[in-house]
Amino acid sequence: HPSNLQMEGSSGLRRADCRAKGGVPGFKVAILGAAGGIGQPLALLMKMNPLVSVLHLYDVVNAPGVTADVSHMDTGAVVRGFLGQPQLENALTGMDLVIIPAGVPRKPGMTRDDLFKINAGIVKTLAEGIAKCCPNAIVNLISNPVNSTVPIAAEVFKKAGTFDPKKLLGVTTLDVVRANTFVAEVLGVDPREVSVPVVGGHAGVTILPLLSQVNPPCSFTPEEINALTDRIQNGGTEVVEAKAGVGSATLSMAYAAAKFADACLRGMRGDAGIVECSFVTSQVTELPFFATKVRLGRTGVEEIFPLGPLNEYERTGLEKAKKELAGSIQKGVSFIRN
Ligand code: NAI
Repeated sequence: HPSNLQMEGSSGLRRADCRAKGGVPGFKVAILGAAGGIGQPLALLMKMNPLVSVLHLYDVVNAPGVTADVSHMDTGAVVRGFLGQPQLENALTGMDLVIIPAGVPRKPGMTRDDLFKINAGIVKTLAEGIAKCCPNAIVNLISNPVNSTVPIAAEVFKKAGTFDPKKLLGVTTLDVVRANTFVAEVLGVDPREVSVPVVGGHAGVTILPLLSQVNPPCSFTPEEINALTDRIQNGGTEVVEAKAGVGSATLSMAYAAAKFADACLRGMRGDAGIVECSFVTSQVTELPFFATKVRLGRTGVEEIFPLGPLNEYERTGLEKAKKELAGSIQKGVSFIRN
């Protein structure tokens, strides 16, 4: 396709595209919504990932510009851009991993659920494309409200007969990244040494940090637990308010998405012991979807870990989380079924 060639950012002087012909091992990754606040820095970070051999950047605006820019980085991945719905199928064909940060972000005063009206339709369209063009790809879904968009994608895949629950993952990594940072701040240690499991979902009270299971083991006062839980649950709102109408978390989110995608790719490569939190099809609770620690392997989610021992504070939080999650999941399912 001539416009795709232009968007490769190539001068036309390339002798032979040996890399694109499969000479270099690695995975083919697409970012849908690549020109956005998250999409652009995420494109940058994925272009730097040595496990990526081909990087497809799709958006309904500005994909050629982002593609030309990122393609000049002297790293391994071959970058191709795709602009607008007619090029969605080319963007998706052959992909191993599809990362979706497409959709509108929050403004001050909005909840993630306020985004449902617009983002539900966007995620539906993109999931239909995946079902048609790369049904075996692993999907990392970032578009909010994640608690509803993951059920939407699952319903689209079920309808198409392509649903594999191991390959559909809602990205909750930013909650974990925030939890690690805020807990490290309180403990006065390096955040890289802290690991906080965050379970439930990705919105308000559904974000449930398990402060009793922090690694390395530590203890907090009840005041610290309250303050930390509140800050982790409202970290997104902290950024939305600081940005004052210009958007929500994009840079920390791109970092979190790149970290999660890298974990998926290392799992796909066959690395052992890759464990991350993610919002997935689950039997850990009575709900059809729930975020917990999962083990990532060649085929996606290969093991889902139980919640582990919860204290009373966390058990109360879990009940609240489940109540809200049930409604958000149902809202997503109904959007496709009705
Ligand atoms: P943004 O508005 O800066 O970028 C979104 C991009 O999606 C734009 O470039 C837009 O053109 C594109 N887009 C819109 N419709 C599309 C379609 N049909 N196909 C492909 N691309 C399309 O928004 P930002 O800040 O990048 O956020 C994106 C999404 O990520 C929002 O829904 C936001 O709520 C969510 N988010 C999720 C987080 C998480 O932890 N899971 C954290 C932060 C944001």
